[in-house]
Amino acid sequence: MPAPRPLRVAVLGCGYWGVNYIRVFNELPEVTITAVCDLHEKRLRAVGQRLPSLGLATDLDDLLRREDVDAVVICTEASAHHAVARRCLAAGKHVLIEKPMTTDVEQARELVGLAEARGLVLMTGHVFLFNPGVRKLKEYIAQGKLGRVYYLYARRTNLGPIRRDVDVLWDLATHDVAIFGYLLDRFPQWVSAVGVRVLGSSHEDIGFISIGYGDGVVGHIHVSWADANKVREVAVVGSDMRIVFDDLNSQEQVRVYEKGVSASAPAMASYGEYHFQMRDGDIISPKVEVSEPLKNQCLHFVGCIAEGCEPLTNGREGLQVVQVMAAIERSIAQSGAPISLAPLKC
Ligand SMILES: NC(=O)c1ccc[n+]([C@@H]2O[C@H](COP(=O)([O-])OP(=O)(O)OC[C@H]3O[C@@H](n4cnc5c(N)ncnc54)[C@H](O)[C@@H]3O)[C@@H](O)[C@H]2O)c1
Repeated sequence: MPAPRPLRVAVLGCGYWGVNYIRVFNELPEVTITAVCDLHEKRLRAVGQRLPSLGLATDLDDLLRREDVDAVVICTEASAHHAVARRCLAAGKHVLIEKPMTTDVEQARELVGLAEARGLVLMTGHVFLFNPGVRKLKEYIAQGKLGRVYYLYARRTNLGPIRRDVDVLWDLATHDVAIFGYLLDRFPQWVSAVGVRVLGSSHEDIGFISIGYGDGVVGHIHVSWADANKVREVAVVGSDMRIVFDDLNSQEQVRVYEKGVSASAPAMASYGEYHFQMRDGDIISPKVEVSEPLKNQCLHFVGCIAEGCEPLTNGREGLQVVQVMAAIERSIAQSGAPISLAPLKC
């Protein structure tokens, strides 16, 4: 049997994040990058100097006319995702689209419908779901080691990098909404959020979100472009354990606190008083596989196309995250009013 032909990938948008895709795909034997496209000629020239065999295009139509492109990775600003993705899908290309998939629910729904009607793979770049540290958290929760999950919280703060087309919630909280959904394997029932604009733009630069997942499980997300303390952290607190993922700590990415508190039902003799059981144990740093999340994500995309499988972060998962983000936006516009949610039918 001859070896299967490498997947021919084009990268659309070679700014700050797009060049990482170019590097990663260029290292994968299963892939040949055939072309890159960007509106900025200077950015294209810089890529072309490093990888002279690549086709360069400033116009998406030129890219889509090429016969040597099976899949397109969309890494433009979020506000451009929908317009370019629908053209790529209409041209019969598999699509990997950066987060957030779109900034509008109907637009996301349209992309899911287009991909499904044409039998194309549509995947969202929710890269933290391919992060071995986040996967370790999932492993602990799935094995029931945390006991009953009480709540989750995430902090993503820094001084920028500030975006011009979307607010800090669409930019950063999208990661945490995707992570929470993955960890709990649930779609939220409600959100409530407030946002603040301190940097004089028309977008929120600071945000605080509460999310309810049912059965009393709640999540909290804080994002900021105006906080000198850089934090990238997700914590899950349960009755038996607390477990923390710290993306900035390469030595101890995950910490497990084998400590917790729970209440036992009142005994007859204690006249309805609950008894609290404290659990005290070790603080440990479990071994976490060393691998690059973006590379894992790209390999997953390539594997799904080769085997005809649905990606973990498929179009529907991308749509669900967009739906939650749109509800967060509505809650902010209503000064934090709770917004109910139910998963959309495609
Ligand atoms: N997963 C992550 O951790 C992560 C990190 C950073 C950025 N991102 C995402 O990646 C995307 C890009 O972010 P960035 O920081 O690289 O932005 P950027 O502004 O640095 O780059 C975007 C590029 O897209 C190009 N572009 C825009 N519209 C185009 C079009 N119609 N045709 C061709 N080129 C076009 C621009 O010219 C620009 O060079 C965003 O969706 C962002 O949310 C994800």
